[in-house]
Amino acid sequence: MSNDLLDLTLKRRSTRIFLTDEIEDNTINEILKIALTAPSSWGEHPVHFVVVKDKEMIREIAHCKAMGANPLIQSNVCIVVMVDTSNCELWIEDASVASTYILLAAEQFNIGACWIHIRNRAGQVKSADEEIRELLNVPDNFRVLNCIALGQKGEFKKEYSEDKLHIENIHHDFFLGVV
Ligand SMILES: Cc1cc2nc3c(=O)[nH]c(=O)nc-3n(C[C@H](O)[C@H](O)[C@H](O)COP(=O)(O)O)c2cc1C
Repeated sequence: MSNDLLDLTLKRRSTRIFLTDEIEDNTINEILKIALTAPSSWGEHPVHFVVVKDKEMIREIAHCKAMGANPLIQSNVCIVVMVDTSNCELWIEDASVASTYILLAAEQFNIGACWIHIRNRAGQVKSADEEIRELLNVPDNFRVLNCIALGQKGEFKKEYSEDKLHIENIHHDFFLGVV
């Protein structure tokens, strides 16, 4: 039996080197539509996405993270994933699931993507989260989980192989076997 979703997840790898070629707006919209189908706690859909295409703005966003945001600088599109936390206990989970959908959706369109983590990361002066919210004019009740760097792939990594999956991480009935 073919398993298209498994094939897609085996192919998906983080891309940190991007070409300068643009991503079509329609492709970005399709990726975001898929992100909007992600499950969320209580079905509240509290995750918001700020799509940034302006290169200078992307550079400024990258600068808000003290270290490790280099892949963003090369990207063509930066999706900043954030949640209205005023009534959302599980905001990290909600934003993580939506982010995962973006990574998989990007791969489906053969677009490279990388999760650049923001939550609990230092900025230049304040936290990276606060600095990005100030830059993008985001209300105080929101928190930023990450930025997803998107672009045409400039590097090609080996796909995951089905026979090298961490199958030992799957436990049946009990974690340890009962003797
Ligand atoms: C919660 C989380 C945080 C991550 N943060 C970063 C990051 O800040 N910078 C980065 O380059 N990659 C980041 N990544 C990507 C991981 O480094 C990458 O998924 C991992 O090395 C496995 O490689 P793969 O994505 O090619 O399977 C993050 C991934 C996750 C799930």
